[in-house]
Amino acid sequence: MAYIRPQHSSFNCVSPSIFRHGGDIWSLIEKGFKHEEILDFSASINPLGIPEGALNAIKEETKRLDHYPDPYQKEFRKALADYHDIDPAFIIAGNGSTELIYLVVRALNPKRVLIPVPTFSEYERASALNGSEILFFESKETSDNYYASYQIDRTALLKAMTSSRPDMVFLCNPNNPTGALLKKGEVMEIAEVARDLGIYLIVDEAFIDFVPSESVIKEVLSNPFLIVLRSMTKFYSLAGLRLGYGVFHENTVEKVWAFKEPWTVNSFALKAGIACINDKDFKARTLVVIKEWKNLVEELFKRLNIRYIPSEVNFYLFKFRDVSAYLKTQGILIRDCSDFRGLKDVGGEGGSCESKNWSEKWFRIAVRRPEEINRLFEELIKWAQD
Ligand SMILES: Cc1ncc(COP(=O)(O)O)c(C=O)c1O
Repeated sequence: MAYIRPQHSSFNCVSPSIFRHGGDIWSLIEKGFKHEEILDFSASINPLGIPEGALNAIKEETKRLDHYPDPYQKEFRKALADYHDIDPAFIIAGNGSTELIYLVVRALNPKRVLIPVPTFSEYERASALNGSEILFFESKETSDNYYASYQIDRTALLKAMTSSRPDMVFLCNPNNPTGALLKKGEVMEIAEVARDLGIYLIVDEAFIDFVPSESVIKEVLSNPFLIVLRSMTKFYSLAGLRLGYGVFHENTVEKVWAFKEPWTVNSFALKAGIACINDKDFKARTLVVIKEWKNLVEELFKRLNIRYIPSEVNFYLFKFRDVSAYLKTQGILIRDCSDFRGLKDVGGEGGSCESKNWSEKWFRIAVRRPEEINRLFEELIKWAQD
């Protein structure tokens, strides 16, 4: 386990290069690409796009932009409450789940935070900005059973929680960037230890809509140290709108509200969110097509002898020689994962794509439509053969 103690004044550990994200279409637009020419595999967004009901709700809401949005988000929280069968009093919506990550850290002010890595970088940044001491629990790349790489060793994590006694642990489930999932029972085991030790366990379920049965959202009500965060960005393709929510125990919910800025969730997002969660067809269709399109991605990985981590969600982590600069020239974005803490970015023996012996890096791609997937793999082949 490694740890850093952030120097609040020096900001070393929050340098922008560490906290890059996918979805940087803007750098390609600067280079002259048109929006519609760009193929973005770097942000893991549902390729079906925004549900139609949400678009209609947004159009309708343009008539009411002279009013502030409801700072208490009552209608949206009520819709979420009905959907999850949870009292709306325990739900808070945010400007993306990112707002809530920062908010819980600010409100609960942990002295020490434990973060299993590799994972989403904003837990580290939020903790660093709060001046919290940060411990990293590292998972390993395993060469004997490659496909088990970067899976969290639960027993070791529980041991680390017991010995290092953090005040807060972040658990991204399913995890970004690996796509690995801890089953509900496994998360509950960690949550019970967290409760016994008085450690806040923040479970980030930004991608759980792809495996909804494994959510622990309802368990929050009986565990004062469990918090679950959800994002509407990925599954509902609302990245630009900014909408997420959290479920909090009655002991913490007031505290989190007390630290929240008003009106961070705009009127479009509040209305679109309601339309999304009520759209059962969209949900069912997404699960069917993503499964089908994942089969295609895996088939192509195997055909090209590319090593990848099995994924429960709509993205894959895989190893390849550094192809991202070439792909950019073709208007294609993939996520270069070399800035993920805890992910070894170069190395591994053997090679991908016709067994060339290359030094490789980790990349993440979203699952997109078949014609887009085929285009990406054609470019990979073309580049590898040059
Ligand atoms: C695991 C995880 N959590 C949270 C977020 C942030 O999502 P949002 O758009 O809801 O702020 C992301 C975005 O990439 C993510 O990957």
